[in-house]
Amino acid sequence: MNGAPGPGVATGAVRIFDTTLRDGEQAPGAGLTVAEKLEVARQLAKLKVDVIEAGFPAASEGDFEAVRQIALATKGVGIAALARCKDGDPQRAIDAIKVSDRPHLHLFIATSDIHLTHKLRTTREAALAEAVKWVKYAREKLGRDAEVEFSAEDASRTDHDYLLQVYEAVVEAGASTVNIPDTVGYAIPSEYAALTKLVVDRVGRDATISVHCHNDLGLATANTLAAVQAGARQVEVTINGLGERAGNASLEEVVMALRTRPGQFESHDIQVQTEQLTSASRLVSYLTGFAVQPNKAIVGANAFAHESGIHQDGVLKNPLTYEIMTPQSVGLVGSSLTIGKLSGRRGLQAKFAELGHDLSGEALDALYREAIALADVKKELTDADLLALVDKRAATGSAATIELLDWSVASSRGGGSSGRVEIRVNGVEASAESTGNGPVDALYEAIDKAVAPTLGWNPILAEYEIRAVSEGEDAQGQVTTKCRRSNDLDAEGKPLPNAPMVTGQGLSTNIIDASLVAYVSAANKLAALESGAASAPTKGSREAMQ
Ligand code: KIV
Ligand code: ZN
Repeated sequence: MNGAPGPGVATGAVRIFDTTLRDGEQAPGAGLTVAEKLEVARQLAKLKVDVIEAGFPAASEGDFEAVRQIALATKGVGIAALARCKDGDPQRAIDAIKVSDRPHLHLFIATSDIHLTHKLRTTREAALAEAVKWVKYAREKLGRDAEVEFSAEDASRTDHDYLLQVYEAVVEAGASTVNIPDTVGYAIPSEYAALTKLVVDRVGRDATISVHCHNDLGLATANTLAAVQAGARQVEVTINGLGERAGNASLEEVVMALRTRPGQFESHDIQVQTEQLTSASRLVSYLTGFAVQPNKAIVGANAFAHESGIHQDGVLKNPLTYEIMTPQSVGLVGSSLTIGKLSGRRGLQAKFAELGHDLSGEALDALYREAIALADVKKELTDADLLALVDKRAATGSAATIELLDWSVASSRGGGSSGRVEIRVNGVEASAESTGNGPVDALYEAIDKAVAPTLGWNPILAEYEIRAVSEGEDAQGQVTTKCRRSNDLDAEGKPLPNAPMVTGQGLSTNIIDASLVAYVSAANKLAALESGAASAPTKGSREAMQ
């Protein structure tokens, strides 16, 4: 072969390739700002994944910037960027990852006849030639030590002989990893394992074999594990199984299966710090606004809850009766210290450490101020209250175009509501009044009126959700909003194709305040899209995949 095989994977090891920030972020409404992506990347580095796929630089300015900044900010972890086998894409991706100490370029082209005929409108021969051309280009540009990965999109529905021919040719051209995407989640485990084995037998000596499974039939984790048994040495996964449609294989499920059942896998060594899984899951759920279902394996709220008497009795006698892994091993920790308004900074630091967050300096100071202010309203802060403050802080990196200064509202049963807001837009103060069929509706309308003259658009609410962070009458309310821009709607008020939708969060013991903060935070993200400080997954990435 011409190209060197790249760093590869140690004997007995499986490389964990996290694509939460690329494939995960393609889930509509999961768009993150550059600051939020950096926060997730930091958590992934703590988790010790081997590769972070940070984005698709050719899709948007925001994606390019996010990948570049993550590549600058992280050391000792592979930073991957996706690129089509198409003029401009590979170079844009290379420009974004070249500052990384472990650049990993991920090239892809579709190979199934369905995609070739109907999407790319090209032939098998032409697609193969493009794949080889761009793999050679990447190897030349990146040198012998970088990872050059090639994905045959829709591999599981591709003619096997042709697929193997493509893999052989790209490895000959310098690809160090070849990936077998089950793009539409069509495969079943025995079939996918057999396909993986064919690829391992054909090119497994010269390249790392990677697998990438979608969950349309609920089989993504099963397919991934079956492929590892068949010789795959890289798994492409996302936190919480986030991703388009039914999502991707879930990182926490694959990782905990390898840890819990090592005897089932010839290669099973992973360096993942599983105690960071719960924090990673919380962070991704909070920032994307995608709730984790309570019965989700590993990170769902009920994953370690034993409700029935028989189970509780068994677990009390010996946890092994009903627990195949400990809650501690995935970072689900209770804590003994209590926090109230007389607690000190040190006490709070110790409490956060018990909850799995090592905080110091400015981050600790800021959380201390927030915790003490909250303790003035609530007698005692629960673990959930404190973890919610940590989540909230993770979302505060982006510059604010709109600041909420004050609000007031009058509302009565059956009498409608009228409200007034005072805000600052791009540094200029503005106020507006409006009526609505409830207090939140009236205040959202008032915000719309106040921002539209300066921005040329106002946020349009697509989804609204409120939940209590903990139990009790004085619980904090956490509001999640999903919004689009008004100028991304057609004359009938329907979203234009690929109109971006973003998530905003608000947290307060006053649910109206939480609602306004969530709305303004979504509006700020929409404003950031215009300035390139956020990526627009529904506008950029998916469209660019065509
Ligand atoms: O699902 C898929 O085919 C992909 C490729 C770009 C790897 O995400
Ligand atoms: Zn995918």
